Amino acid sequence: MDGKARTPFRASERIWLSPPDQTGTEQLLLAQVVASNWIAPAGPALVDFEEAIANATGMPHVVALSSGTAALHLACHLAGVRRGDRVWTSTLTFVATITGACQLGAEPGFLDVDQATWTLDPALLDQALREAARARRLPRAVIAVDLYGQPADIRRLGAACAEHGVTLIADSAEGFGASQHGSHAGRGARMTAFSFNGNKILTCGGGGALASEDQGLVLRARHLATQAREPAPHYEHLELGYNFRLSNLLAAVGVAQLSDLDRRVARRRQIFDRYAACLGELPGIAFMPEAPWARSSRWLSVMLVDRDRFGAGPETLRTALEAANIESRPVWKPMHRQPVFAGAFRMGGGVADTLFDRGLCLPSSSGLSDAHQDRVIEVIRAVHLRALAA
Ligand SMILES: Cc1ncc(COP(=O)(O)O)c(C=O)c1O
Repeated sequence: MDGKARTPFRASERIWLSPPDQTGTEQLLLAQVVASNWIAPAGPALVDFEEAIANATGMPHVVALSSGTAALHLACHLAGVRRGDRVWTSTLTFVATITGACQLGAEPGFLDVDQATWTLDPALLDQALREAARARRLPRAVIAVDLYGQPADIRRLGAACAEHGVTLIADSAEGFGASQHGSHAGRGARMTAFSFNGNKILTCGGGGALASEDQGLVLRARHLATQAREPAPHYEHLELGYNFRLSNLLAAVGVAQLSDLDRRVARRRQIFDRYAACLGELPGIAFMPEAPWARSSRWLSVMLVDRDRFGAGPETLRTALEAANIESRPVWKPMHRQPVFAGAFRMGGGVADTLFDRGLCLPSSSGLSDAHQDRVIEVIRAVHLRALAA
């Protein structure tokens, strides 16, 4: 690539991995909340947001919370996770999947992912649960993770857990808007956690939710999330809770963002398809698969790079993109390789290791323009051409 072609990349504005994509009604709804003076972790926007989440996911009971991390922490609390319990999850995830369990005193365990979906391997879980049952050391809970918009196979994971009386929690932080076996991502687990962090398919700036088919569980989650205050005129407490509720202000942003969920999913999928069409033919490049029983939201478009065949590895690509003012990111570093979890139980991990070594997440916001996506594609093509010429 010559100097002339490189210049516009350096001069132009930064392309972020997954920045917020506004509908245009956020300001109006926020202004209405301010005018109403419901500037609190309670109010009508929260009710509307919870209703909208229930409608979008089909999960009848929802509590909106301050983050996905808080939702997962509460889910573990409600599953009865206590000091010394085991909690297992997929090793290929963000640390927040397991943070709450560890903070409750659980011992984490990490299982490999399935090559075909990059999510928790049901056959491996089945085997691990049978061995744990024989050793009388079953986990209290298993947390399935929807990865980059690809839903985990809740049907098979749920069946394996049910056989041993283990609670299945879904970390659907990255799965909002996706579906599996004809249901929303995460549906069918005992509890499902969502995230509305700034980089997610829809955002409140920061926020999350816990959903379930079980009204009692969600009522209890709501109680614990508001400092476990008993119904009394004074402050009365029978147990310790959390301050985990979402602000009514942020819920208004969530309502605006959720109003065009279908467009968001369609656009993310279109972006993925365009990357795959424009780059998939290059030697050594492959894209994240989609399970036949699922419809991924393609929250992030993820590419695999075979260093030998492509001529450069994912880190070379990432630095070339960075030099062109484009953010990209390696695939999650597996939890079994994180120093904080040294010595933790693990089963397998080779699939996740390969995905970490070869994977690169590309700019994927539903607000990404074709012109910006072209810039990303051009940089990747240029790296390949340079490698060929070298
Ligand atoms: C898989 C996964 N789990 C949990 C979380 C935590 O969500 P939050 O940032 O809303 O706490 C995230 C994202 O941030 C995530 O990607």
